[in-house]
Amino acid sequence: MCGILGYSGERQAAEILLDGLAKLEYRGYDSAGIAIFDSEHNKITVEKNKGRLQTLREKIKNNNAQLSGTCGIGHTRWATHGEPSDTNAHPLWSDDLLVVAVHNGIVENYKELKQELSEKGYTFYSQTDTEAAVKLIDYFYRENNDPLSAITSAIKKIEGSYCFVLLFKNNPGEVWGVRKDNPLIAGQGKGESFLASDVSAILQDTRSVYYLDNMEIVKLNKGDVRFYDSEGHAVYKKLSRVTWDSQAAEKGGFEHFMMKEIHEQARAVKDTLRSVLKGEKFDLSESGLSDENLKAVSNIYIIACGSAYHAGVVAQYVLEDLAKIPVRVELASEFRYRKMPFEKNSLAVIISQSGETADTLAAMRLAKNNGIKTLAIVNVVGSTIAREADNVFYTLAGPEIAVATTKAYSGQLIACYILAMELARARGELDNVKYCEMVREIQKLPEKIDEILDEKERIKEIAGSFIDADGAFYLGRNIDYAVAMEGSLKMKEISYVHSEAIAAGEMKHGPISLIERGMLIVGILTQKNLYAKTASNLIEAKSRGGFILSVITRGSEFLHDEADFIFYIPETDEHFSASLAVIPLQLLGYYVAVARKLDVDKPRNLAKSVTVE
Ligand code: AGP
Repeated sequence: MCGILGYSGERQAAEILLDGLAKLEYRGYDSAGIAIFDSEHNKITVEKNKGRLQTLREKIKNNNAQLSGTCGIGHTRWATHGEPSDTNAHPLWSDDLLVVAVHNGIVENYKELKQELSEKGYTFYSQTDTEAAVKLIDYFYRENNDPLSAITSAIKKIEGSYCFVLLFKNNPGEVWGVRKDNPLIAGQGKGESFLASDVSAILQDTRSVYYLDNMEIVKLNKGDVRFYDSEGHAVYKKLSRVTWDSQAAEKGGFEHFMMKEIHEQARAVKDTLRSVLKGEKFDLSESGLSDENLKAVSNIYIIACGSAYHAGVVAQYVLEDLAKIPVRVELASEFRYRKMPFEKNSLAVIISQSGETADTLAAMRLAKNNGIKTLAIVNVVGSTIAREADNVFYTLAGPEIAVATTKAYSGQLIACYILAMELARARGELDNVKYCEMVREIQKLPEKIDEILDEKERIKEIAGSFIDADGAFYLGRNIDYAVAMEGSLKMKEISYVHSEAIAAGEMKHGPISLIERGMLIVGILTQKNLYAKTASNLIEAKSRGGFILSVITRGSEFLHDEADFIFYIPETDEHFSASLAVIPLQLLGYYVAVARKLDVDKPRNLAKSVTVE
């Protein structure tokens, strides 16, 4: 998510904006910029650059750019469309700087808008989706110099999620904002007012805020704050008082970034889906995967580390079942040293949140050097893996702060499901009826994820029983085994409880000897044809003293009497069940770590991106 700020008042805006953006740095960004309105000279000046806020501060100081003015907007960008660069940094503007704006979100129909605007004589200087929206607003503004009608007209045509904050050249001293599915807050001060994507950016100036609802528009003019609905009618809004401290505010009121990001998974899934959804079909052409390219693939290597590897194991089962294609999942740190013959016509799928993991990067280079086509599934736009891969499928999870990944992992699963569905469809292995059914079902995952989160207190309660646990097993078969891997990693990496994921069928081949009385045995059952087998492994574990905690699809009667604790998850297409079964396991690891009073967001010895081997 990008960081957004607006100010109108009596004080110099530049410093206020830079200080406010600094409060948002924790979210991660790749470029920054501000625009200041010098009402006296009726001039808007923009300063922006790729890289850190400090670079922007130095640039402003060195250029001796007199950014004088008491009205302005600012932005820290997390790239989704268009590489991180000075040009793609926000603010973006229309000709003569008639309209200058910053944006958080995704303009899904930006290509169509650019096409329409080009026919009206508009040209474009950036690779961003945002510029299309700015020029659309400009088009309407030029009709009657009225920001409100320009905004209400434009949002009727813009599809996607957005928070725009704008300056209009013929409306000095005014800052405008509009939001849909991305947060926007208005702050009320004495003779001044603020807009922000995040309360933490303005807390040092005011605790009196208005929370805009979807499709609401706001106008600041010094201390005067006005609201309108999407038709331009005035709206009354209640003033709220922020009681959080700034630390809590950065986390959106959650105690840890990890919990905040667990709750952002529905959004991450929705944004990743929507980035490739065209009507009722997916279109991976932007990732270089036309039907022709997909048909040419006869073998797949999936290469990754950690949670990204676990997403790859899920993908293996889904790809094999749907696309009927051989898939090998490899730990990047092993793959890079193997002496193996490469299958011709293979596709190497490289999965990485950061796009900078050293082993994964090295493994990708090995595949490329052997003539294998590479597709990167990456969260950070413009990262090394993204830039070096032949093609990229971006997960739109936004910046992930907690070391333990949750929302990026969920985005990776979605990308893998879509790849499997498109491969299967292109290879004639998935008929249109089933394909459309799956497209409809995958779009229900966000609401089902949120439904699970509504019951998180149950996980919190049971987690308290394992504060002193000294070990845990996570069991499953097929996709459930892949989920067990991720659940086990979540437990060990943040609560430091040793845990192990075991293919349930392997218990009898050794691990069962480790079961102690009261030992936590987590069983995952989402694959109906395997319920009975995994249930019997769990019952064997229980008979040896294990505490059975099961994650099971709602409606199943299995383990109803035998399990010590059952968490039911909503039904979905079994290919997608990992996206739901993993949620209670993320919560379990989180709550045990919190109960053990550990540093959840920054676990000992771990880094967010392992850029060394
Ligand atoms: C997962 O919670 C860990 N942060 C870690 O296993 C991570 O998934 C792994 O280091 C891979 O990182 P990447 O996705 O950035 O390549």
